Amino acid sequence: MVSIVISGGQWGDEGKAKITDLLSEQAEYIVRYQGGANAGHTVSCQAGLFKFHLIPSGILFSDKICIIGPGTVIEPSFLLKEIENLKKQNISLKGLRISQLAHITMPWHSALDKATDTVGSTGRGIGPTYTDKAKRAGIQVKDLLQESSLRAKLEKILPKQNQTLRQIHGLPEYKLEEVCQEYLNFGQQLQPFVSDTLNELFEARKSGKNILYEGAQGTLLDITFGTYPFVTSSNPVAGGACIGAGVGPTAIDYSLGIFKAFSTRVGDGPFPSEIHFEDENAVKLRQDGTQWAEFGTTTGRMRRVGWFDAVLARYAVRVNSFSGIAITKIDTLDAFDEIYVCVAYRHKLTNEIIQNLPHASADLLSQCEPILQSLEGWKSNTHKATNLKDLPPLARKYLDFLSNSLEVPISIVSTGPDREHSIILKEVFCYSNPPLKRSRICE
Ligand code: GDP
Ligand code: IMO
Ligand code: MG
Repeated sequence: MVSIVISGGQWGDEGKAKITDLLSEQAEYIVRYQGGANAGHTVSCQAGLFKFHLIPSGILFSDKICIIGPGTVIEPSFLLKEIENLKKQNISLKGLRISQLAHITMPWHSALDKATDTVGSTGRGIGPTYTDKAKRAGIQVKDLLQESSLRAKLEKILPKQNQTLRQIHGLPEYKLEEVCQEYLNFGQQLQPFVSDTLNELFEARKSGKNILYEGAQGTLLDITFGTYPFVTSSNPVAGGACIGAGVGPTAIDYSLGIFKAFSTRVGDGPFPSEIHFEDENAVKLRQDGTQWAEFGTTTGRMRRVGWFDAVLARYAVRVNSFSGIAITKIDTLDAFDEIYVCVAYRHKLTNEIIQNLPHASADLLSQCEPILQSLEGWKSNTHKATNLKDLPPLARKYLDFLSNSLEVPISIVSTGPDREHSIILKEVFCYSNPPLKRSRICE
């Protein structure tokens, strides 16, 4: 039995889904633990190109149980569309499970998100849904399955929401009866997938199953540890897997951090190693017009790009206690004469050289300028490489440089979007925890 948590080490879009898909073959359960339809996870394999928002990437394997966990937030019409699209692509949804505890993104959450956004959000209602969860005014999956429960909650919640929508934001109000019927209808359609996921996970652990916990977003978008306030509203960090799935820390054997070989960010907020979007290096990193161009999977927005930031990455290694990391998109750097890495910051006011950040808040990062170190580019092809020996010496040197800077071993190098385009340096499914046992006190 091995349980691995996969989480992003940067600002999301690190290639988490590609790595989850790669490792899913060896897992029996795949669990999404936080976030909602703000995520956009791409998997490319022989069966086609798939874009997931809420459903764990493991669903492409028909024999896996894929759980949308208690810590997620679900926009039902969006999830139903995702289910429909997968059916059209001949993917079986037999293994899909939805936690009855997950919170529902109601239509006013999306409207409020768009009306009040100050961070360049995805507009998917994530912040307002988590806000209502914390205010103890949320609606959960289980409420959509019982008319009396949904009606009672709406009677309590909706008048206040309508007042806020109308008086503060000048937005249209919602009619209780219409919302109630529409969401009961969603409940009916989702019911076949709703289950007691806590019990399922407990039983899975008891019977020694391999489990993958799949994070969305990334460490620097974490509401506590990210570049606050330019963050999402959940905990993408590895520790979030415990809260979001309903297991304790002893249930996790291995924490795998996913990093792109450079940096990207969608939305607003500090980005110390950013390259101006018109700079030729930015254009090259973004690879406009190619299949791998850096445009958001969810919103289609152009991703901001920059060099690998080892200071923030070291910080991410610490707050996630990464056991190992995967470096993705190394092939994107194939054509560069010189590649830069941000190895430290200089504090603009004190001139202090900072190698380890106490936190990553936006106000601190705005006072820092990056110190870049140049490394020689390998100027040859790494795309689709499957063996370390196939990587040019300078590419290996770059990887060693990252591993040394972060003080963590590299477990996987990704050289292309497909499952096969991967170099496995260390099997991660071997860090086993013993299955649960009983004590025998009476004997
Ligand atoms: P996620 O949100 O972390 O799952 O990442 P996204 O799916 O949003 O973005 C990652 C993008 O990079 C997707 O288009 C992947 O198909 C692609 N990708 C992942 N790994 C590699 C790689 O090693 N090389 C290349 N060229 N593309 C990759
Ligand atoms: P995956 O799982 C990249 C960003 C948004 C915005 C901020 C807050 O594909 O890596 P939100 O809608 O969550 O309130 O937006 O977070 N953001 C992401 N950026 N990848 C994601 O998910 C993201 N999910 C949210 O652009 O800056
Ligand atoms: Mg993404």
